[in-house]
Amino acid sequence: MTAKIIDGKALAKKIQSQLTEKVAQLKSEHGIVPGLVVILVGDDPASQVYVRNKERSALAAGFTSKTIRLSDSISQEELLAIIEKYNQDPAYHGILVQLPLPTHINDKKVILAIDPKKDVDGFHPMNTGHLWSGRPLMVPCTPAGIMEMLQEYQVDLEGKNAVIIGRSNIVGKPMAQLLLDKNATVTLTHSRTRHLARVCKGADVLIVAIGQENFVTKDYVKEGAVVIDVGMNRDDNGRLVGDVKFDEAAELASLITPVPGGVGPMTITMLLEQTYQAALRSVSL
Ligand code: GUN
Repeated sequence: MTAKIIDGKALAKKIQSQLTEKVAQLKSEHGIVPGLVVILVGDDPASQVYVRNKERSALAAGFTSKTIRLSDSISQEELLAIIEKYNQDPAYHGILVQLPLPTHINDKKVILAIDPKKDVDGFHPMNTGHLWSGRPLMVPCTPAGIMEMLQEYQVDLEGKNAVIIGRSNIVGKPMAQLLLDKNATVTLTHSRTRHLARVCKGADVLIVAIGQENFVTKDYVKEGAVVIDVGMNRDDNGRLVGDVKFDEAAELASLITPVPGGVGPMTITMLLEQTYQAALRSVSL
């Protein structure tokens, strides 16, 4: 079997153009412009690229968008004070603090400081609780984007074996809950999982978020599986590559995401969608 490619870029474009129309309507009918503030601490090159893309997409969709770039010598107290300022500012409906943060800053405290209603990343424990109790409100953007892709390509999850590699709070754990909600049987694997290739070989849907270039080979992929590659690694030539050996996996899979052009564009799209939803909720239209 040679897999069909899941075109995340095209789907993101479609959703963002619908969103642009909804934003224009919200503005003309109610005078509200969704506002997103993105806070970047330090000069991590990958984070700088992500943050620039978020701002560019937000502006293109008609949002107010502000990026606050802070030196990595900023204290935790100063950062918390900036977050509090935007918690109170009604012009901003979403606050995103780009991770990772420098080691002298406690990221759990930072996430806790964000008003859960403005937590468009869905990382606040209040939003985690909503998600795990089956009433999702703000959902981490990468898993939310993956669910949109699975829906668009009509992947039936009912009773299917879904295996996730990676148990992060950003991808793996929320992904597990979203798949569970669709009645998949979920296995959440990690670095200590035994016989990982064998476990993955039983997956109807395989989600790979391990952060290691070309980690998943054909030995991990079942014939006909749906393979979602969350990896964003730079190879020796500086090119963006995923966690999956694409050519090998595509020989076996029925559907597969490319890198770039798969999961990445959908993450930003869901960030914008959630900021728009937060703006709507702020005026309870
Ligand atoms: N770093 C890597 N992915 C993410 C994300 O989705 N949100 C934030 N805030 N930081 C990240």
